Amino acid sequence: MIAIAPSVLSADFAHLASEAEDVKRAGADLLHFDVMDGAFVPNISMGFPVLASLRKATDLFLDVHLMVDRPLRYVERFCEAGADLVSIHVEADTPENTREALARIRSQGKKTGLVLKPMTPAEAVLPYLEELDLVLVMTVEPGFGGQRFMADMLDKVRAIRGWIDARGLSCALEVDGGVDAATAPLCIAAGATVLVAGSAVFNKTDRAAAIAAIRGS
Ligand code: DX5
Ligand code: ZN
Repeated sequence: MIAIAPSVLSADFAHLASEAEDVKRAGADLLHFDVMDGAFVPNISMGFPVLASLRKATDLFLDVHLMVDRPLRYVERFCEAGADLVSIHVEADTPENTREALARIRSQGKKTGLVLKPMTPAEAVLPYLEELDLVLVMTVEPGFGGQRFMADMLDKVRAIRGWIDARGLSCALEVDGGVDAATAPLCIAAGATVLVAGSAVFNKTDRAAAIAAIRGS
């Protein structure tokens, strides 16, 4: 079962409620919410108040991707603002703090995710795998929507799929960046179960057709 997560980074921010409603009607399984702090990545997007407003406007599962330095400082506030899942970057802090941040997300009753930048080897996820609800493999350098899919990340997806299956875990495997109707089948074949798509959904007038094409149905 493949889940499609439109990334609201490519939505019309002045009409977030109706954009969320529109992609829900079009078949979205969850919403991906990108938080950028201008330090971990060279861009700034949105934070707590926008998430809290979106939470009131939709019942879609909110998958919050923190591109933030030392996310331990903020994870609880994102849980309180309405995240259903909070994912943090493995590169963003020490192993101790990463583990503590994951524990705090879990203790708020939310799902945990760990994200790998393109330069980060697949093995970086291994010490945490048992504690995770989701692993996110970046298929572009984080920071901006609309970039080209990095096909050489597929080996990383395959390796992590192998470890999840070998350990009998139910952890979801998500890809993010440059996913569209052409690259989605490659991700699915490599073992991804959740596909984030920003521009390939929100920049299309027929979002139902866009989501169906990415899902391959
Ligand atoms: C990039 C973000 C992505 C972005 C994807 O740093 O993490 O979620 O919105 O956009 P597309 O699908 O356009 O590559
Ligand atoms: Zn993202």
